[in-house]
Formats: sequence, C-alpha cells, structure tokens
Amino acid sequence: MNTLAKELNDQLQKENAAVYAMLSKRGKELFFPKGILSQSAEAKTKAKKFNATIGIATEGGVAMHLPCIQKHLVGIAPNEAFPYAPAAGKPELRKRWQEKIVTDNPSLRGKHMSQPIVTSAITHGLGLVGDLFVDEGDVIVLPDKLWGNYRLIFGARLGAHFQTFPMYNERNGFNTDGFHQVLKETAKKKSKIVVLLNFPNNPTGYSITPQEAAAICDALKEVASEGVNMVVVSDDAYFGLFYADEVMQESLFAHTANLDERILAVKLDGATKEQFVWGFRVGFITFASGGQGSSEVIYDVLGKKTMGAIRGGISNCSHLSQTLIVKAFESTSFVKEAREKFEIMKARALKVKEVLDNEKYQDAWTHYPFNAGYFMCLRLASVNAEALRQHILDTYGVGVISVGDTDVRVAFSCTEVDDIQELFDLIYQGVQDLS
Ligand SMILES: Cc1ncc(COP(=O)(O)O)c(C=O)c1O
Repeated sequence: MNTLAKELNDQLQKENAAVYAMLSKRGKELFFPKGILSQSAEAKTKAKKFNATIGIATEGGVAMHLPCIQKHLVGIAPNEAFPYAPAAGKPELRKRWQEKIVTDNPSLRGKHMSQPIVTSAITHGLGLVGDLFVDEGDVIVLPDKLWGNYRLIFGARLGAHFQTFPMYNERNGFNTDGFHQVLKETAKKKSKIVVLLNFPNNPTGYSITPQEAAAICDALKEVASEGVNMVVVSDDAYFGLFYADEVMQESLFAHTANLDERILAVKLDGATKEQFVWGFRVGFITFASGGQGSSEVIYDVLGKKTMGAIRGGISNCSHLSQTLIVKAFESTSFVKEAREKFEIMKARALKVKEVLDNEKYQDAWTHYPFNAGYFMCLRLASVNAEALRQHILDTYGVGVISVGDTDVRVAFSCTEVDDIQELFDLIYQGVQDLS
C-alpha cells in the first residue's frame, strides 16, 4: 500500500474507526499524490524566471487557445475556461455551493460537514461513493422505485447486491416501516450497509415529509446502536423541486448529518437538474460524519481519497462548466430566474394532478403519490406497460418510459402545461385500444 494511503487510513482509524471500516478495499488504497502539485505550488512562488511545471500550454501569460473557440466564450477569460480545474473543483464554486447547501437546509446550522467536492455531475458522485465504500458482495438498501442506472453503477460495475423494500405503505406515504425492517434484516448479515435514498424520487416524483425523515433517522440510529456501520447516501439530483406544503423542504442529509458515529452521511447534488444544465456535468459530493473524533481530520482524509479517486478516474471536471455556474451565482438575476423555472415546473405538476383527478381514468390506472421533481408514475390496471409504451409511440407518437410490467413513467418536466391534458388522454386512448 502507498505510504500516503496508509497515513490517511491511520488518521481515519484514530478519529473514527467506523468510517474507516466503511471504506472498500479500493477506498483504503486511495490517496492523493503530493508530487506534481506540491512541486508546482513551490514553483509558483519561487520560479521567477521560467516556470516549466504547468501541465498546460501557455502563451503571453495566459492559457494557449484557439481564437475560433474563445470567440464563443463571451465574458469568459481564457484562463477561466481552458486550463485544468483543481481535482476538487474551483474553490469559489465549492464555497458558493456550500453556502447554498446551508441556506437551503436550515437544519444544518450548527452541524459540521465537509466542503463539497466537484464531481462530473451526480452519476460521477455515485461512482465515487462506489469507489470509496463498495466492495463486491456489499449490500445497498434502497426503495423498489429506483433510478435504473444504480444497477449499472453499483451492481454491474462493482458487484454490489440490492436489497429493496416497497417504497410506499398502505397510507400512500413513504414506507418507513418497510425501510426499518429491511435495514434490521440486512444488519443481521452485514456489519456495513450502504443506504441509498433519492428524494425527489426518480421515477415516482415522491419526496418525504418531515415526519418520514424523522422515522428514517430513528431507524438508522437504532441499527447503528447495534454496531452496524452505514454509509447513508442522499441522491439529491432533483433537490428543491418540492411542490406541496407537506413535503420536507430540505434534504434528508440535513438530518442524517452528525447523527451517529456509525453513520456517514453523503450528499450528492448538482447543478445538472437544479439549474437545468444537464450537459454541463457539474455535481458535488459532501460528507457529514458523527461521533467525537476530529471532523476536520475525517473530512481531510475523505477529501483526499475522493480527490485521488477523481484524479485516477477522470483527472478533473470541466473548468468551463464550473466557471459558468460560478457566473450564475454571481448574477443578480439568478435567484429570480431559478424561481421562474421552478414555478413552471410546479404548474405542470399541479396540472398533472388536476388532470388525473378525472374519474374517467379510474379503470385504466392509479398513480403513485407524487409531489416533487420531474416525473410521475402511472400504475396500469390491466395492460402491460411495455406493450402500451410501444403502442402509443407507434400509433400516437407519444413517448413514455415503461418500468417493469405495470408502471409507466411520465416526465412532466418536458411537457408544456397546455399539452398535459392531451398527453394523458392519448395514453388513456392507448390503454383502451389494448384492453
Ligand atoms: C435519481 C437520479 N440520480 C442521479 C441522476 C444523474 O444525474 P446527473 O446528470 O447529474 O449525473 C439522475 C438522472 O437521471 C437521477 O434520476
């Protein structure tokens, strides 16, 4: 093992042995190399004549670039776009995002957490969680309504097992009892569990209430008190898109942070969906541990291991994308513009609810409770979801996603409010055609 990795492991073990035990074999091997970075930093201050350490090309003191590219970057200096970004991301972006997390999650006040590290959006953040914490045969506990890509990220690539539980209870709320049960059963077999919760949820568009969040935390605490270590990941891809008053307006992470020595809360979020820049690939990974050990040391170790995983995987994330998000934060119209887009999304969600209230659809489907995010899911009463998907695509030119035999996911995020009635009428027509 590299001596830097060993040093990091020793520090972590001393400050929080549970978090150390959560690391995968790969996570234990990870470290952040000092070599080039420390030599470049030294040269920056002392190499007054020639600094030949920088790993990019320069010209006239700025990053070398092609004018045919630069001319499109209005208001962005070459050095803000072309050079590599630091492995952990642009410092000003990390600072802004941390402020945003605290502002958006008042329950975090007085709690500690790491500074967010920039990821190439949330998919990459999930991959980093896998790198750090998931070994073959590890168990991931999550609801049965899940983003399909989790199976590639954790199952196909890392060999983890999925332990699901029914997402909804008979009261059409989040199945906190089912979660508790599955956690307890898994704890009988495993000393480490990765819990993966995604609210607002893809595919259902459900987000939890404060009471449900409290019940989830109680379950986690109880299982932790029995000696089980848990990495509790909040996939906050659709954070902030909450459309009903009863929904908790903050991340579950605000409540799992600092909860117990044996619970490491991990927040994955990003600009991709929240700020409607899907292709920019800007996300963040943030940690919050519990217990008495020095959180400063714990975050330093986890940060260096995360940076090592980034450097050894994709080297660093897009500098231009990060600059554009910083510019958005600096813009005076940012808050107003984001609010306007939120209102559009909310109006669509409310319109879907209104349309679905019509009793005429009763024989065709019920729908899973939804109150947030981009999507909602129909549960078909009689026809097969994939057969319906193909039929309405071929016959009416309507595209939806089939999930399993009975469910159809509809993205209201990309349907104009005035088209929503017609969209559901065509889906309904499709059901009637096949019945
Ligand atoms: C629940 C969930 N997590 C993560 C992602 C990935 O987001 P990103 O584009 O930021 O990688 C998605 C995208 O569909 C998602 O639905």
